Amino acid sequence: MWVFEETLPGGEKLSEVINKTNENVKYLPGIKLGKNVIADPDLENAVKDADMLVFVSPHQFMEGICKLLSGKIKASAEGISLIKGMEVKKEGPCMISTLISNRLGINCSVLMGANIANEIAMEKFSEATVGYSQHQEVAERWVQLFTTPYFIVSAVHDVEGVELCGTLKNIVAIGAGLVDGLEMGNNTKAAIMRLGLKEMIAFSKLLFPSVKDSTFFESCGVADLITTCMGGRNRKVAEAYAKNGGKRSFDELEAEMLKGQKLQGVLTAKEVYEVLNDRGWIEKFPLFSAVNLISQGLLPPSAIVQHTHNKSRYS
Ligand SMILES: NC(=O)c1ccc[n+]([C@@H]2O[C@H](COP(=O)([O-])OP(=O)(O)OC[C@H]3O[C@@H](n4cnc5c(N)ncnc54)[C@H](O)[C@@H]3O)[C@@H](O)[C@H]2O)c1
Repeated sequence: MWVFEETLPGGEKLSEVINKTNENVKYLPGIKLGKNVIADPDLENAVKDADMLVFVSPHQFMEGICKLLSGKIKASAEGISLIKGMEVKKEGPCMISTLISNRLGINCSVLMGANIANEIAMEKFSEATVGYSQHQEVAERWVQLFTTPYFIVSAVHDVEGVELCGTLKNIVAIGAGLVDGLEMGNNTKAAIMRLGLKEMIAFSKLLFPSVKDSTFFESCGVADLITTCMGGRNRKVAEAYAKNGGKRSFDELEAEMLKGQKLQGVLTAKEVYEVLNDRGWIEKFPLFSAVNLISQGLLPPSAIVQHTHNKSRYS
């Protein structure tokens, strides 16, 4: 396991502490990782003989990581991305699995689902979805690798749909957190989740007409949307943002509340807004637009209902 090296407050290196205690004391304290997991701060060394590569970094670091990995991995390696987010470039949006495929010249599947990390670490039951683009046998190998009695994985032939579900639900979770912070209740939150799901489906299909409706009923779809809007860090920080009346920025709250972990929803809302703006789709996506404008401080938190409802009343 490659570990981005950090020096802990006591002066020790994170990778050394992981190898000594078998625990990631900064990001997943209290959970033993298994003796077969060795933390390696040297990226090139960590990947050099790998046949199967699992990517799970915050998405904003992937461009840099791919640069470092280029030409350093086996040509026959298979990749899978657990990363939620997208890159927006001049030529259009690029999903992270596509970035990995293009930069490294390998096939890349995705794994998404209702999978809040610390619950999985405690071996509480959950489901997940592998999305693949080409060969079913590759997807089946990933399913076999990830499946345990408490983690049930199924594969669908819709890599874009699965990845967009995982990416877009973080925007909806910001909306759900704002509703919680404004103490508007469960009915309002359910309304935001319903509109969010509609926008997730519409946006995915506009970007990739091949995306299947059935994908949204897999774990990566409605189940991940529910868990992220009930628990999860995007909801939590958005709740605090609304409670503070939008006076403390998301960046400030992220640093204070997440202690090094990264929010994905705010960045994803900004990236998706760029796509909406570029393609003239803003009117079609009032919830996604409102989340971005609120998180940038351009609209008050209460706009999550007013703005979204006014614009989507007749849809
Ligand atoms: N945490 C979850 O519950 C969960 C569940 C499913 C998927 N994911 C996805 O997995 C990905 C990673 O999320 P996470 O929760 O493990 O991480 P995180 O958002 O908590 O960020 C912390 C991680 O980023 C690494 N990091 C910090 N600075 C870095 C840098 N400059 N370069 C590279 N790495 C750096 C840290 O070592 C640490 O592993 C995200 O795309 C997220 O959406 C997370």
